[in-house]
Amino acid sequence: MRKKLYIKTFGCQMNVYDSGRMADILTPLGYEAVEAPDNADMVILNTCHIREKATEKVFSDLGRLRAHKARRERDGKTTLIAVAGCVAQAEGEEIRSRAPYVDMVFGPQTYHRLPEMIAQATRASDGSGRGVLDVEFPVEPKFDSLPAVTTPSGPSVFLTIQEGCDKFCHFCCVPYTRGAEFSRPVKDIETEARQLVAKGAKEITLLGQNVNAYHGQGIDSESEWGLGRLLGYLAKVEGLERLRYTTSHPRDVDEELIAAHRDEAKVMPFIHLPVQSGSDQILKAMNRKHTVQEYVDIIERFRKTRPEIAFSSDFIVGYPGENDQDFEDTLKLIESVNFAQAYSFKYSRRPGTPAAALDYQVPEDVKSERLKRLQQLVQQQQLTFNRSLIGTQQAILIEKPGRQDGQWIGRSPYMQSVHFHGGADLQGQFVDVNIIAAGQNSLAGDLVG
Ligand code: 5AD
Ligand code: SF4
Repeated sequence: MRKKLYIKTFGCQMNVYDSGRMADILTPLGYEAVEAPDNADMVILNTCHIREKATEKVFSDLGRLRAHKARRERDGKTTLIAVAGCVAQAEGEEIRSRAPYVDMVFGPQTYHRLPEMIAQATRASDGSGRGVLDVEFPVEPKFDSLPAVTTPSGPSVFLTIQEGCDKFCHFCCVPYTRGAEFSRPVKDIETEARQLVAKGAKEITLLGQNVNAYHGQGIDSESEWGLGRLLGYLAKVEGLERLRYTTSHPRDVDEELIAAHRDEAKVMPFIHLPVQSGSDQILKAMNRKHTVQEYVDIIERFRKTRPEIAFSSDFIVGYPGENDQDFEDTLKLIESVNFAQAYSFKYSRRPGTPAAALDYQVPEDVKSERLKRLQQLVQQQQLTFNRSLIGTQQAILIEKPGRQDGQWIGRSPYMQSVHFHGGADLQGQFVDVNIIAAGQNSLAGDLVG
């Protein structure tokens, strides 16, 4: 009988990708992925360390898993509990001491060694070995040891092309948890893209913590290619209809990337380009290495190339030392760019990062107030953007049936959810939809034809 594997994924899209790859590794070992932890023989928490709240959730989940393990033990069944991802990387020792019933703790760069870890952890649970802690950064990248993609996936999938970060923004734990920047060779990316398309993918989102710093070995193997050139190359893969990439850093936007948006219709006109703050002083303190004006210029260059491009961003409010004027400047930047969407967060102190050590931390109530104002503005812009599509026809990639009978839900080029009614089984297909209504988070329309 196949063993049941439950993976709970926290945090970013790269964790979603990593969880899929862990399932790929475990399939040949007789594990089958399930949707809920009940009856699971192995549970992996794939964790996120980006903000404090994300970390707290892991420890509360572990408490529940301890009970799950004890219950199964009474029935004579063993359960392996693993903590993977960035919390494991950053707080491995603490997890082992606070939660000794956890069998395996491993970071984002070592999960390709899961089969060995399981063998070791199983011996440990028999009493003949020790639990596993594997959080070393690798000598050789894990990608070379990963099997082909086998787990089921839908029409829209992720593909990690770059990992780690050398930017060291002063608030961010990523350079410490994911390690140094690494780009996969173009050939490997192409092979994986073709595997995904063969399994039904129509849209691929290329992932990287700093995806546009991509500089992988090119097909000719002589030179390194940037993201723009990679996009142009992947656009030739037959059956692949849409390309996206996330997350970009303003400093790494080059002409080739901008040109890819002009030359390749498959590259979607929606770009996630985090700016974090609209104050030069704060950008400098954050070590972002660009000014507000430089950011605005990049947006302009994209828009000149393809006017319909829409932008989303990330913002942090209450970075240490952020005063009222700095915050007003952030609102001003948002007013001037006009975002289609944005994610915003209260600054969260991450142990070991330079900003955590600063004494002039912003009080919690000020952070909350600023976050509220910023989110109101962004939401207004999002609604305005959504409404601007009423009366247009959009190509929609259908992801799943809706809640109502005969209803379908798909994604527009701008990643909005679009609801409409249609005929037969349309899952995974492209259709044209006339947009007739727009809300805060989704659009509704009529199927054309
Ligand atoms: N506090 C708040 N937000 C953070 N982010 C990263 N680190 C922190 C932190 N310490 C946000 C940034 C980044 C997004 C992924 O998470 O906006 O772009
Ligand atoms: Fe973190 Fe992104 Fe800055 Fe890298 S570029 S340190 S991942 S916020």
